[in-house]
Amino acid sequence: MNIITAALIYANGPIHLGHIKSTYLPADIFYKYLKMKGEQAIFICATDDHGTPIVIEAEKRGIAPIELVRYYHNKDLEEFKRLGIEFDIFHWTSSQENRFTTLEFYQALRQYIYQKKVTQYYCEELNKFMPDRYIKGKCKYCNAQDQYADQCENCGKTLHVGDLIDPYCTITNTRPKLRDSDHLFFKLSYFANFLREYNIKIADIEIYNYLKGWLDDLQDWDIVRDLDWGIPVPDLPGKVFYVWFDAPIGYIGSLRALRRDWREVWNNSKIYHFIGKDIIYHHYLFWPAMLYGANMNLPYKIPVRGYLTLEGKKFSKSRGWFLSLEATLNHINPDYIRYYMTTISPSGLIDSDFSFNDFKNKINNDLIANYGNLITRILKLWNGRDLEKTDMDQDEINAYNRYIEYMDNVKLKEGLEVAMGLVGYYNKILTEKEPWKLDYNHAKPIISKVLFGTMFVTKLLYPFIPFTTSNILKLYGQDIDLRYPNKIVFGGSIIPFKKLENEIDILKQSIGT
Ligand code: 2FM
Ligand code: ZN
Repeated sequence: MNIITAALIYANGPIHLGHIKSTYLPADIFYKYLKMKGEQAIFICATDDHGTPIVIEAEKRGIAPIELVRYYHNKDLEEFKRLGIEFDIFHWTSSQENRFTTLEFYQALRQYIYQKKVTQYYCEELNKFMPDRYIKGKCKYCNAQDQYADQCENCGKTLHVGDLIDPYCTITNTRPKLRDSDHLFFKLSYFANFLREYNIKIADIEIYNYLKGWLDDLQDWDIVRDLDWGIPVPDLPGKVFYVWFDAPIGYIGSLRALRRDWREVWNNSKIYHFIGKDIIYHHYLFWPAMLYGANMNLPYKIPVRGYLTLEGKKFSKSRGWFLSLEATLNHINPDYIRYYMTTISPSGLIDSDFSFNDFKNKINNDLIANYGNLITRILKLWNGRDLEKTDMDQDEINAYNRYIEYMDNVKLKEGLEVAMGLVGYYNKILTEKEPWKLDYNHAKPIISKVLFGTMFVTKLLYPFIPFTTSNILKLYGQDIDLRYPNKIVFGGSIIPFKKLENEIDILKQSIGT
């Protein structure tokens, strides 16, 4: 079995194209590919429901955290479906299953957990301990104003609790107090050797280099927060597990909601975690240490992708510079979103840019002009007449093998490029041999070859543009698998795509909505 997970999405704001590009789309493409190949696979995701930002967002809206997370759970699932993302389960980390699983992990890891007092900022107005990102003040080293409690952006120094002069809570604008609290720490440092060896085995060299600084200096990890929203910590009243403790456990908690034999399935699968580069630390270090300590199966591969910029500028929710998935889906064919996002997203740490011109270009002059045209031309040429059986030639076999190799290694952009290369190959045969100039007896072998090839490459394109391709495959009697077709049923002529025209201007207007 293969288990595919996509990083659990925080249930406190809309999905944007950055999330899609780095995580949900590649995971879905890979999942569809595995299924098409005939492998068993389970695709898991959930909302990540806990943590202070969710509590604060709910308070802002005057609702309970549970209402907020349920709202986003439904909304997110709906949007994922519209984009063609098909989880086997989209669960939530505030579920029963996740609570049980988290408590079991806690028991299993107890020998690596110890209690320690910590001092934290406490906002008396909100009656809450406040995480660093909600506290600002003056840096005690360089006097820069309005610095966050964990690091000074001006002088770069790491700040500790108490290091800010005149601290204030950014929510209430009042001065926080310092208070002590008993917390639990996970001995990450104990796992140093294991983590080093594990990451030498599974991490790409680029990721390994990125991890090196951390691997050399593993700090024990505070797994408790003073909150009433989360999974309560046994024997520490008023405290819950840190959201980053129960979130990855949510992968297993969600599997548990799907399968009674979850433990066997987890321990006997190849596990793929798709993530954005901002959460490498959690997935390559914390989570494997937790799994190893609890004697559970480790991730097999953790595919990482970088951030998305929009017209060269960073996505920013507060500055209204982003494209939400919902707004994009309202104007754009989901297959166009999937196609374009894949063409700009190599695997690894590198970031990608969404540019409206490039988007229009890649859809109109690449997808439609090449693949769309091939479909329209060959179906018209064929028009349901009799065909002769053709087999793959060496070029097709080579392309297929390269496609499989890329896709198996989660090099999805490259897999798509190979498929589009085959599209070009078939177009070239048509252009060179001009079967429309021949009588059908002479045209038949050419038309048959290109038609069988077109159906074949449509299968290879299915994981990327599932809506269009599954319609075509259905219409012409093809199964969704990786087999070269042996029979094609005429389903009429079609024009599979419509060019992008003023949709682009409308989309520009939906930036920030
Ligand atoms: O960074 C995030 O968006 C987190 N919600 C990801 C959690 S992934 C997993 F570990 F649960
Ligand atoms: Zn400073």
